[in-house]
Amino acid sequence: MKLTFHGHSAWEVETAGVRVWIDPFLTGNPLADVSADEVHADFVILSHAHQDHLGDTETIAARNGAVVIAMNELANHLQTKGLRTEALQIGGGQSFPFGRVKLVPALHSSSADGLYMGTEAGILLRDIEGTVIYHAGDTGLFSDMALIGRAGLDAALIPIGDKFTMGPEDALAAVELLKPRLVVPMHYDTFDPIKQDARAWKAAVEERTGVPVLVLRPGESCIVTAGGGA
Ligand code: NI
Ligand code: MN
Repeated sequence: MKLTFHGHSAWEVETAGVRVWIDPFLTGNPLADVSADEVHADFVILSHAHQDHLGDTETIAARNGAVVIAMNELANHLQTKGLRTEALQIGGGQSFPFGRVKLVPALHSSSADGLYMGTEAGILLRDIEGTVIYHAGDTGLFSDMALIGRAGLDAALIPIGDKFTMGPEDALAAVELLKPRLVVPMHYDTFDPIKQDARAWKAAVEERTGVPVLVLRPGESCIVTAGGGA
């Protein structure tokens, strides 16, 4: 599985020749390395409906004919806008040509245009080669992350920005609960209120947990394999 970071919480997953985007916030994202009209996507997976995650989903999915996988309320909302959608709920999963997607709990909120969009979710993705990644969305720390970790995470993408999500200290505690083989920080430095020192966080996490931290700049990629880390 090839994972490419596009700034904030936007990721591109390429596996089995399928292009999957997660939280494609590009327009208005000062860290984005690509524009929405350059994106090729077969599927879009959303953690929640806030603008810095929903982002360019509508234009990207409409232009590519991509299927949007999201919480029930958000999927239904996007379906009324003419998009192809697949609704899931917390704890439920579904198989797709690239692998299996399961939505897991996250402590946050989710709304769009003032409308309730269900709860926020974390995303567990197991591709057809068995590689497992966890995109935590915008969550606070919760002890059931230990249950999510039981999936055997080859990589965990977790927010460290503070203010709207876990900050560095809680994100370190999350790594202790999740026990991933690799962790990549996200949702920081995009805007002034969520500026963080990712290098310092990497050093602290590696010293206290032994889990390797990969700090990716927007546009950078890593290859993640089942049981093999990056
Ligand atoms: Ni949010
Ligand atoms: Mn956010």
